[in-house]
Amino acid sequence: MCGIVGVVGLRDATPLLFGALRRLEYRGYDSAGIATLVNGHIERRRAEGKLDNLGIVLERFALPGVTGIGHTRWATHGAPTEGNAHPHGTERVSVVHNGIIENHAELRAELEQAGQNFTTETDTETVAQMVDLHLKQGMTPSQAAHACLKRLHGAYALAMIFAGHPELMIGARHGAPLAVGFGEDEMFLGSDSLALAPLTRRIAYLRDGDWAVLSRHGAEFFDLDGTPAPFEIKTSALPGGAIGKDGYRHYMEKELHEHPLVIGQTLQRMIDPATRRVVLPELPFDLATIPRITMTACGSAFYAGLIGRSWLESEARIPVDADVASELRYREPPLARGGLGLLISQSGETADTLAALRSLREAGQHVLSVLNVAESTMARESDIVLDTIAGPEICVASTKAFTAQLSVLACLAIATGRARGTIDEAREEILVQALLDLPGRAAELFGLAPMIQQAAQIVAEARDVLYLGRGSHFPVALEGALKLKEISYIHAEAYAAGEMKHGPIALIDRNVPIVASAPSGRLFDKTASNLQEAQARGGRLLVFTDPDGAARMERIAECTIVLPETHAFAAPILHSIAVQMLAYEVALLKGTDVDQPRNLAKSVTVE
Ligand code: G6P
Repeated sequence: MCGIVGVVGLRDATPLLFGALRRLEYRGYDSAGIATLVNGHIERRRAEGKLDNLGIVLERFALPGVTGIGHTRWATHGAPTEGNAHPHGTERVSVVHNGIIENHAELRAELEQAGQNFTTETDTETVAQMVDLHLKQGMTPSQAAHACLKRLHGAYALAMIFAGHPELMIGARHGAPLAVGFGEDEMFLGSDSLALAPLTRRIAYLRDGDWAVLSRHGAEFFDLDGTPAPFEIKTSALPGGAIGKDGYRHYMEKELHEHPLVIGQTLQRMIDPATRRVVLPELPFDLATIPRITMTACGSAFYAGLIGRSWLESEARIPVDADVASELRYREPPLARGGLGLLISQSGETADTLAALRSLREAGQHVLSVLNVAESTMARESDIVLDTIAGPEICVASTKAFTAQLSVLACLAIATGRARGTIDEAREEILVQALLDLPGRAAELFGLAPMIQQAAQIVAEARDVLYLGRGSHFPVALEGALKLKEISYIHAEAYAAGEMKHGPIALIDRNVPIVASAPSGRLFDKTASNLQEAQARGGRLLVFTDPDGAARMERIAECTIVLPETHAFAAPILHSIAVQMLAYEVALLKGTDVDQPRNLAKSVTVE
């Protein structure tokens, strides 16, 4: 997945495109490029690696022009080299693309046969070469683009400019998002409204399969048959200003410190301060009669969903099936109509989660999404959205959005339990109080930094790390291991503590530290026994626990990190923050690129 942007107007295009690419860099940073029309000809600048490299090229070789397109790439087809960097094209057309053209090999063979000369390994060049061929055959740019779009299979968001047409830009989408921005005497295309926020707040989202022809005065929208298509201009609420690090070393550090605020803001939306009861927005279905929930998501969002599952099952006594979206969408589980599809996503654009949403809807499920981007595709396609109020999350590895998701899921579990009669008023009061205490407890966690840094020294020296947890703390272990892998490049595996003896125990020696999330409570003794088994085999234990658990752990653990006392219901939220903090400290010791780790992207809009 990649970020794309385009402008047709009167102002110098390059600075506008570059600024928008900065806001899209979370979508990929393998290479970047910009093409503009200069005296009717297409000119482009491209650079391998991060956007800063393109900035250096642009300083040396300025790129004038008032119409242009830009791209920041997360490589799918073809190595992340300058040669494969977008925009792609010929002397007649220049194209930027987000997605994958699945029938590119077949189209490429056909186009080569027709005499088109390819210069890259990318699937995107197929689009440029096909449009080029149609232009040579005498079609207008609109006719050429339309004829090309009808041949494409797969996912795409596209922006194109054409030599000799200084006031023309064409955009198209199928399966990948694309927004059209309406300015004064200028028009824009962008992968999302965040990219366009400083340029215009007036946004129309292309419907799936539609395409648009833009001049600086406005846009015409069409469907794939070429029939004019409806569109609606909405006012985006996103902040237009740049998002800074506010004195923190990394966005991740800043976002970790925003946990208390974000949890507080998210809970405020769902808990009535007067009655201290959970109040959800009006739902288009009845939580009391939903027979079962199918929860799906990707990455960290899926782990948040697993914690949500344990709350929904234990507090609301409702069966919850959970699977990662890339599996669920092809698994075709038999689902009785009238069930609830529960989707969780920070971006609301993740391709697998979006596809799973659509397949759940086809299977007759209601669709409830927990989302951080209110203007996302998933938001538009859900029956109801529960918002996480995390604000823009810039670091590729998710932190504050994860705990905001947990805050929403905890409230959903309470509301579901109440609707189904499994939670009475007294129980609700206890659970709500546990949640309301969280912002304060989360703030206390930062005082643990010296202990966490000590643990980080041990982890940073390891090649492999094992994370363990039980019950709702097994997903905490999964989140901790994922975060460590993502930002420190140390191999980490998470296991349900009770499963360790069925294999991973063979790995244990002094070189494989074991990080455990083990609060006191019902499962503490079981987890403690598992940890004892590891310690007996030379394992070095780094244990996150609470004051009650600490006494027993201190005897066996090399490092015991004592989190503030909290109710068991809310403990996974605190422990998640702690394991994220550990990953951050390890990444600092390893000197990695914390905010933009290699090979990753924040919003994965390809399968
Ligand atoms: C990517 C990101 C993860 C994120 C996952 C799901 O892999 O690097 O941090 O958890 O996508 O993204 P979503 O936007 O759907 O939450």
